[in-house]
Amino acid sequence: MTGSPLPWWMSAVVYQIYPRSFADANGDGIGDLAGIRAHLDDLAWLGVDAIWISPFYPSPMVDFGYDVSDYCNVDPLFGTLEEFDALVAEAHALDLRIIIDWVPNHTSDRHPWFLDALTDRSNDHRNWYVWRDPRSDGLPPNNWVAAFDMSAPTWTFEEASGQWYLHLFESAQPDLNWDEPGVVDAMHDVLRFWLDRGVDGIRADVVHCIGKDPQLPDNPPELAAIPHSALNDVPVTHQRLRDIRNLLDSYPGDRVIVGEVYLLSTDAVATYYGNGDELHLSFNFPPLYAPWSEPHWRRCIDSTVHALAPRDAWPTWVLSNHDNPRHRSRYDAAALFRGEDPASVVRRSELRARCAAVMLLTLRGTPFLFQGEEMGLLDAVIPPDRVVDPGGRDGCRAPLPWDGTDHHGWIAPEGIEPWLPFPDESSTRNYASQRDDPDSVLHLYRRLIACRRRHPALSLGDFVLFDAPDGVLAYRRTVDDEVCAALINFTDTTVAIDHHFGIEASLGRAPATVAISSDGSGEGSPFDGRLLPDQAVVLTT
Ligand code: GLC
Repeated sequence: MTGSPLPWWMSAVVYQIYPRSFADANGDGIGDLAGIRAHLDDLAWLGVDAIWISPFYPSPMVDFGYDVSDYCNVDPLFGTLEEFDALVAEAHALDLRIIIDWVPNHTSDRHPWFLDALTDRSNDHRNWYVWRDPRSDGLPPNNWVAAFDMSAPTWTFEEASGQWYLHLFESAQPDLNWDEPGVVDAMHDVLRFWLDRGVDGIRADVVHCIGKDPQLPDNPPELAAIPHSALNDVPVTHQRLRDIRNLLDSYPGDRVIVGEVYLLSTDAVATYYGNGDELHLSFNFPPLYAPWSEPHWRRCIDSTVHALAPRDAWPTWVLSNHDNPRHRSRYDAAALFRGEDPASVVRRSELRARCAAVMLLTLRGTPFLFQGEEMGLLDAVIPPDRVVDPGGRDGCRAPLPWDGTDHHGWIAPEGIEPWLPFPDESSTRNYASQRDDPDSVLHLYRRLIACRRRHPALSLGDFVLFDAPDGVLAYRRTVDDEVCAALINFTDTTVAIDHHFGIEASLGRAPATVAISSDGSGEGSPFDGRLLPDQAVVLTT
């Protein structure tokens, strides 16, 4: 690992901000760029290296910003371009890098390109989208189903022109036609616009969908119920990614592109790294869906290592994001259905989330945190009359509780509620209370991030799983002469890790010191060979 400097994003910890729900500076109940600026110090205190901001561009908000109507501006809900520039400058002054979301597969149906395409079949922008004539039986052009509403086709019939247009998501999100050179040029220009403003990286939304089989063939019947966006995997996309990669690499400073390649297998996702000439990073979804079980996690880790190692590709790890229930809500949901005492389920789910944080920040690869997981938030419970998302994702997008007051730090003039309700525990589980409490989840994340920084083995080191008792995951990270280990107890019993398992031999030296413990106990002391129920430790020598 010595020699030429490695790109910053290999050792970075990235923090995802969903701007509507992060912090509201103008009191309209919706988070904004000024809210982010007001909390940059808190993010620097936490120790993250970069923030990824979900879309803040002008949008009718049918998909809350993933339906863009102007790629090169800021929606007035969130602020102005000048405020974005100030945000970049202030973040950089704190050594925080900025990654922005780029939505290349589709625009809003209110984007001027699409409005233009609708006016006339011979219009210049018509072919920027994907149109097909009706079939003789009047059915949509193929059997693809849309994301969100999986009973809906990916096609909408446009009466005026008598043709169908393609949308892998909502009908308000028509797919761009990347076979059209004008689209490629325009979307490359969008990248340049933001890279020129100083952003350090791009998160590319469903980027595996920018190439499509020109025949648009039916999906096989056994896959016909799966949204096409999870199946779309064609060779032409790879050339398009190489061109995008060249564009990024023409800028100084290791600008990074991390792709959302939402395919079903890790092997398929791995191909989007190309031969080191496509995506720098790609999200890896199986761990995000993995239940809290050691065999599941072992399989996720094995398949990630096997898929990426031959390409020398760098993994990513994600526990939660704006599209899925938060991991603390996921890990113990079944216990409630089994009728277990809710208070003990809530406690155990926090212990498990703490263990998961240890893995997230010590596995080999770049970790992405989703805002609020550093407080161990649960999803908010959304009453039916407050549901707003067509994809059922409101719970994880609830506003962050900044303090224990009624409005949790959201300026709320009379009569203005935040756009979604807060998570249930917000009066006791919020940023202010956790910052004051050294035993909180927030402090655990901060200690873990600091530990990664102190011990480069934990970020850049080699990775080897080693034997441990059933239900315990154990791995070693090594760089130069530094060796660290992580032990994660997925069981609800105390487990003795005796010399038989060779922890100390594996670390190369004895005794090992507990650098981090998920419940805070024993940190700084020699490891006594015992893992408590649902406890994880990081050991150093
Ligand atoms: C991605 C985004 C999701 C969005 C979809 C359509 O999956 O993460 O939030 O709804 O793309 O843009």
